[in-house]
Amino acid sequence: EVLRADGVVEAQITARQSNLTLSGRPARLMTYGGFPGPTLRLREGETVRLNFTNNLPEATNLHLHGLHVPASVDDPLALVQPGESRLYEFTVPRGSAGTYWYHPHVHGRVAPQLYAGLAGLLVVEGPLDALPELKGAEEHVLVLKDWAFSGDRIPAWTPMDWMNGREGNLLTVNAAVRPTLRAQKATLRLRLLNASNARYYRLALENHPLYLIATDGGLLEKPVELSELLLAPGERAEVLVRLSRPGNHRLQALPYDRGAMMTHGGTNGMMGDQGMGQGMGQGMGQGMGMMDHGGMGGMGDTGMMGPMPVMGPTRLETLLTVVAPASPKPLPLPASLAPVERLEPARAAATRRLVLGERMAQAEFFINDRMFDPGRVDIRAKLGTLEVWELVNKTDMDHPFHLHTYPFQVLSRGGKPAPYRAWKDTVNLRKDETVRIAVPLRDFGGVTVYHCHLVEHEDRGMMGVLEVR
Ligand code: C2O
Ligand code: CU
Ligand code: CU
Repeated sequence: EVLRADGVVEAQITARQSNLTLSGRPARLMTYGGFPGPTLRLREGETVRLNFTNNLPEATNLHLHGLHVPASVDDPLALVQPGESRLYEFTVPRGSAGTYWYHPHVHGRVAPQLYAGLAGLLVVEGPLDALPELKGAEEHVLVLKDWAFSGDRIPAWTPMDWMNGREGNLLTVNAAVRPTLRAQKATLRLRLLNASNARYYRLALENHPLYLIATDGGLLEKPVELSELLLAPGERAEVLVRLSRPGNHRLQALPYDRGAMMTHGGTNGMMGDQGMGQGMGQGMGQGMGMMDHGGMGGMGDTGMMGPMPVMGPTRLETLLTVVAPASPKPLPLPASLAPVERLEPARAAATRRLVLGERMAQAEFFINDRMFDPGRVDIRAKLGTLEVWELVNKTDMDHPFHLHTYPFQVLSRGGKPAPYRAWKDTVNLRKDETVRIAVPLRDFGGVTVYHCHLVEHEDRGMMGVLEVR
């Protein structure tokens, strides 16, 4: 899909209806030609001419999630009508090597379009990828996504889905249920994307720590050893895995309570290794049965008048099995990765407070008491300044906060300073939590947006407009 000549890359991305086979069952989806869509590998400094064509029967567009490119190019409000095309032309920023992605951004339709399979990865490569400890690793891209079907179709959204965000009990990695990754090398570099609408993944690999080397906006200063990694919707992470013993090691999603309102009697994410999990591994039949007869299927009819909702965490799920080579000898860890700029929050030109709120029964979501209005500017800021934003979650549910165009750094969470400097574009806010971020508004002005990346909430109002001049 990619043509490269003299520092210019040309690529074509087409959105279309597609009939795929997921876990042995036919599924009617909307994709960029498959799920995930083609991974575009770009290099820092290159000029990219990305032609996007909409062959769907409805309006859509293409958002370059996380890339620091002008909002006039990556315009979250511009639509591409059926049969039309749009050219996205930009320069890949220096120092941005990392893992990004593309997906639709049509307000009110992001949840159905993303859920149906419109997502793909953008991998930016830079000079540091030549470090022997990175270059010598076996690289894999892992796109995490859950689904639910009724027959071969994705059912309509219920009021409960709009409140909680839609999950599904068919968990996939690159569209495969519990695939096996047979490692040829003992050091793996995994580029992880949470492309789910609403599911959180608290990831852990059996018998091995994860060495975090990059977050949303690129490489860290040095690897950070983690026993587990929480990936909220929209977030990416790159980890090194140093396989130290042969055999099978499961990549698992540990239980996590994001505060979603669930019902008794088998709903999304309530089946794990202890329960229906084995059945799901064989195919979608049982999982779908649960959907049709047990839980969420009935919610549309009963709405909020049904069984009393309870707050429900997910159970442990196996996502993937890594098979290590016979006598694994992993590479040493890189001693240092990339310099990460130190921002000076004391010199911030403005400090703002953004409070996330909800009116649950109506499935309406707010930032500073207002629902999204594309005709209103919520924040006016000055180009070339640094701002500090205090993100306050006043709800009973986690929300992954996302800002377009301008990568930021987390300063503190719940009053505690961030443990390391990292570039982010999406940061999870747990219930009743306050996170402070430093946002450099640099290089180009324009009109852009920030929103909750639990995309049902974005569709239902939890989004604002930022104008930088
Ligand atoms: Cu992936 Cu407006 O976001
Ligand atoms: Cu985005
Ligand atoms: Cu939200």
